[in-house]
Amino acid sequence: MYDFKIQAGDTATLYRDLASALEGLVSGETDAVANMANAAALIWESLPDINWVGFYRNVGGELVLGPFQGRPACIRIPFGQGVCGAAAATREVQLVEDVNAFPGHIACDSASASEIVVPIIRDGELIAVLDVDSPEKARFNEDDRAGCVRLAEILAKAI
Ligand code: SME
Repeated sequence: MYDFKIQAGDTATLYRDLASALEGLVSGETDAVANMANAAALIWESLPDINWVGFYRNVGGELVLGPFQGRPACIRIPFGQGVCGAAAATREVQLVEDVNAFPGHIACDSASASEIVVPIIRDGELIAVLDVDSPEKARFNEDDRAGCVRLAEILAKAI
């Protein structure tokens, strides 16, 4: 049984604990779907005030929905479209304080108000993006950016 209880007081410590839990969870397992599924569940249980977390995978130059937690979501997203597509096309983290102000934002869940999307890159290739959504405006800050980038680094070797 895995029983991670990550409830640190400050965001940097929260992500540090989350990163070590994730490293433990994926260590020794090479199946990408299993590791993405457990990563989504771990992040879902650990980060407060989120309503969706999961993966879009690069399948032949198109983003295709992967393991996630939250409401059912859009399945295919072209590179360059919406927040996930922007992260895939630019390979840069997208930290969006107000998704309704983001040109081309794809509203899978009308409850989502802010979002962070982090590209996962291995050997120069975009493997997937990690997408976290919140019902609160400006939920994610620079500590979330640093923390999610660390999670993406761990996942790059595990998916
Ligand atoms: N809002 C995203 C689409 C994915 S869902 O939020 C799960 C976007 O614009 O890329």
